[in-house]
Amino acid sequence: MPYSSSSSPLTQSIAILGLGAIGTLMAWHWREHTLYGVSRDASTCHRTLIDQQQAAHQLTIPAWQHEAIDWLVITTKASATLDALQSLQKQLPQVQNILLLQNGMGQQQQVADWLSQQRYSATLWAGISTEGAYRQSAEQVVYAGSGDTHIGLWQAQHPTASMPNGLTVVDDIQQRIRAKLAINAVINPLTAVFRCRNGELVSHGEYRQALEALASEVQQCFTALQQPLDFDLKERSLAVAQATARNQSSTLQDVLHQRPTELDYINGYLIRQAQQLDIELPHNRRLLAQLSE
Ligand code: PAF
Repeated sequence: MPYSSSSSPLTQSIAILGLGAIGTLMAWHWREHTLYGVSRDASTCHRTLIDQQQAAHQLTIPAWQHEAIDWLVITTKASATLDALQSLQKQLPQVQNILLLQNGMGQQQQVADWLSQQRYSATLWAGISTEGAYRQSAEQVVYAGSGDTHIGLWQAQHPTASMPNGLTVVDDIQQRIRAKLAINAVINPLTAVFRCRNGELVSHGEYRQALEALASEVQQCFTALQQPLDFDLKERSLAVAQATARNQSSTLQDVLHQRPTELDYINGYLIRQAQQLDIELPHNRRLLAQLSE
């Protein structure tokens, strides 16, 4: 593990694309850096972050215009990533590093391929976070629980960049993203279909059975893809659901707020990968079909 960023200088300039829950939380962590927001109409973004002591912090984030920046951090939903980047084509030559801090898989390789086709020299990073945050309203975000944010280079190279505050660099980010994807592939669609809190997947007999069947299918899928998980997915999913028992998963929140979900980049990604090996994932497919009804 090359380094953790806690001692890096606060001279980094960062633009955040996607000032939703996690984007706003990161903006607050990075408030001492030079910070910009990316908005459709290039206007200043105003957000309020309610911290874990219930104190409200106002954030005023100027729009990124054409300044050279160290980091462009993308915290949109996975499905919006490529379109969002393409809309920033004129500014991309000004970017040193691009960090995708999102749920799901598939978008990272799409971006890597597009950057190399377009011959952009920005270095691509991917990250995952266990920080808990949710949107209380369009401009207000609640910081629900501290966690860790790990990032790594999408393609193996030696990391050379200085890091924004609070990020830990790891050299196995793809494996970590896969592990998170596996857990999300189990908890997220089930909580959305059953409209239940995470803990009910453990305590409710029928939901638990569905969890066990889905976890087994996802575990076997990763093995068939020759990327076996190094943990028992059923046990880990039950443990995560129990540890976050009172939470509504991000997918359930999306469904309840009639927002598009990220499942096409979670279960949908797995279905597409498995299809290339002629493997069917009936539990995954059924859940996606139920949620698209
Ligand atoms: O997406 C989520 O909500 C979370 O990643 C998880 C682990 C399912 C807990 O709620």
